[in-house]
Amino acid sequence: MSKIFVDACFGKETPYTPVWMMRQAGRYLPEYMKVRAEAGNFLNLCHDPKKACEVTLQPVDIVGVDAAILFSDILVVPLEMGMDLKFVTGEGPKFNDPIKDEADLDRLIGGDEAASKLTYVYDTIKLIKEKLADDKALIGFTGAPWTLATYMIEGEGTKTYNICKKMMYSNPELLHKILAKVTEVVKLYMQKQIEAGIDVVQIFDSWAAAIEPSKYDEFSWKYMVEIAEYLKSKYPHIPIIMFPKGIPAFLDKVYGNFEVFGVDWSTPMDLAKEKLGSKYVLQGNMEPCRLYSKEATTESVEAIQKVMGGKRHIFNLGHGILPDVPVENAKHFIKECHRVSKK
Ligand code: CP3
Repeated sequence: MSKIFVDACFGKETPYTPVWMMRQAGRYLPEYMKVRAEAGNFLNLCHDPKKACEVTLQPVDIVGVDAAILFSDILVVPLEMGMDLKFVTGEGPKFNDPIKDEADLDRLIGGDEAASKLTYVYDTIKLIKEKLADDKALIGFTGAPWTLATYMIEGEGTKTYNICKKMMYSNPELLHKILAKVTEVVKLYMQKQIEAGIDVVQIFDSWAAAIEPSKYDEFSWKYMVEIAEYLKSKYPHIPIIMFPKGIPAFLDKVYGNFEVFGVDWSTPMDLAKEKLGSKYVLQGNMEPCRLYSKEATTESVEAIQKVMGGKRHIFNLGHGILPDVPVENAKHFIKECHRVSKK
């Protein structure tokens, strides 16, 4: 059975524009909170294929999205490379032993050995594929090497990125070695996700905007393109979505072998369409906080539809849904995307 989401990724005509939401499996859903409480903590949930499968399917069943996204986290990659990861409630992820020098990097597990430790992710994918309706797509994902490296070097989320940037400008060779090692693991990790059954790949570069535009290609985009190139050479039928957040100044320079460009909420959709719309299908880009108001949601969905006209487009938020959004407003967003785009 053909999947409307996969068709849309390849720019084919579809009966309506498909939609999903970044972070759609999460704390705004009481059903998620229940399973998370049973698991004890967030990482236990990621490690438990049955529970991870259950929360992956929740937004499909409850909210009505056209694609499921694998429930996991981008940080399981550095975790399985040997870094000590904790999620501290209210504070987010923390690594005990951030990378300071080459010796720290050399201690980390690389390549296939690291990718092979993520069996719980591949097992989750297999379970989801057994249960997901045939007409819905399953999105697998990874963090971009740069976004992963920010956590591996800073040890936690950061506002200034000063430790990474100190390395970027004073020891770029070390930063490139870190990025290259992460890239090798991610290529094999995504290959194994595809072999396990995902239908679409998304690469999240959440912290793209931390890099000055003239350095963005060198320290992030080229590694994302390398991963896409590797996957496309082996799996041309699996579409790839690139989501670099907050880089309007780089739009003119975007290149690479992938199908969909994810537009964040700070980039006007008409600008993205003008620069990239003929080359790539565009995904996005409602400002996620509009979900607090049904009127503000409808207004944005109609405006985005007016720009995209139901062609070469996938509806989404311009970043993740927040935990205090009412579920009925999320349902309203999905309903409105379908309503305005129905042919
Ligand atoms: O529904 C989905 O989108 C799939 C699951 C998913 C999670 N994280 C689950 C999660 C995905 C795709 C991610 C990606 C992710 N993780 C990114 C890139 C996307 C983005 O939002 O920019 C980043 C930067 C991370 C790192 C991360 N994980 C942070 C900073 C945090 C803490 C902040 C927060 O929202 O609590 C996490 C934890 C996390 N990952 C949660 C979920 C559902 C919350 C954990 C919980 O308390 O239940």
